Amino acid sequence: MEASRGVLIAGNWKMNHGPKETRSFAAAAVSQWKTALSEKTRAAIQSGRLSAHVFPPSVSLESARDAFQETAVTVGAQNVHFEEKGAFTGEISGPMLKEIGVGWTLVGHSERRQYFGETNETVKKKAESHLRQGFTAVLCFGESRSEREAGETNSVLENQLKTGLPAEWNQRLILAYEPVWAIGTGLTATPEQAEEAHAFSRSILADRYGREAAVRTKILYGGSMTPENVRDLLKQPNVDGGLVGGASLKPESFLALLEGAGSLL
Ligand code: PGA
Repeated sequence: MEASRGVLIAGNWKMNHGPKETRSFAAAAVSQWKTALSEKTRAAIQSGRLSAHVFPPSVSLESARDAFQETAVTVGAQNVHFEEKGAFTGEISGPMLKEIGVGWTLVGHSERRQYFGETNETVKKKAESHLRQGFTAVLCFGESRSEREAGETNSVLENQLKTGLPAEWNQRLILAYEPVWAIGTGLTATPEQAEEAHAFSRSILADRYGREAAVRTKILYGGSMTPENVRDLLKQPNVDGGLVGGASLKPESFLALLEGAGSLL
C-alpha cells in the first residue's frame, strides 16, 4: 500500500446474510468496535486513511444502511445493471440504489462472470454507467488457475482490463485483482504474486489513463484474504486493500482485518 492512496477493506458477503443476520452482524460490529480496534486504527478510519465497506445481498441493503448508519462502515451493492430502468427481470438499477442511499457497486466479480455470463463488455458498460451515475465502482478481474499454469496471467489481465475498463478515468473507479484460483479456496496468492499482478495492472492503467491517474487508483486484492495474511499482502506497495469474502462474514474477523490494515498505517 501507499499511504497517500488510502487503504480499504471491503467485505463481499456474496449470497450470505439476509436482513436479520445483517442487523446482528452490525450490532456485534458496533459493540466490539472499541475493543477489537486499537486507537490507532480507529483514528485511521476516522480520518479516512482506512475505510470499511460491506457488500450485502440486495434484499439486505436497507437493513445494512440503517444498521451501519452511526458507524464508518459504507454499504455497497454486489450487482447492478447498466441500464437505469426497463425490462430486465431480476435486476436492480442505479437510481433504485440511490433512492435507498447506497453509493458503491461491485462490477464483474468472477462469480458473476462464471455463473451469470458477464463478459468484459458488460463489465465495461456497468462500470461506465455506474461511474456516470455517481457511484464508486469496484471493478473485479483476475486469471483462472489454468491460465496461470499456462503462463498466461499477464495476457489475461491485460485483455480483461483493456476491454473492461471504462473509456474515461474517474477517481471513483477502484480495481480488485482477484485470482479465480484463490477465491474461496484458502489458496491465497503470495504477497509477491499479488504485487506482481498489481504492478502490472497499474502499468495497464498508466497506458490507458496516464501515470497520474494510475498512481491515484486503488487496486484491492481478493482471494482468501484473512486476518492472518492481510498485513503481508498490504505491505506490498501496489496492494491498496482487500475485497474479502469468507473472512468478512463474521464481525470478529471483519474487525480483525481492519485492525491488521490499521496497524500498518
Ligand atoms: P474469498 O472471496 O475471500 O472468500 O476468497 C473473495 C471474493 O470473492 O471477493
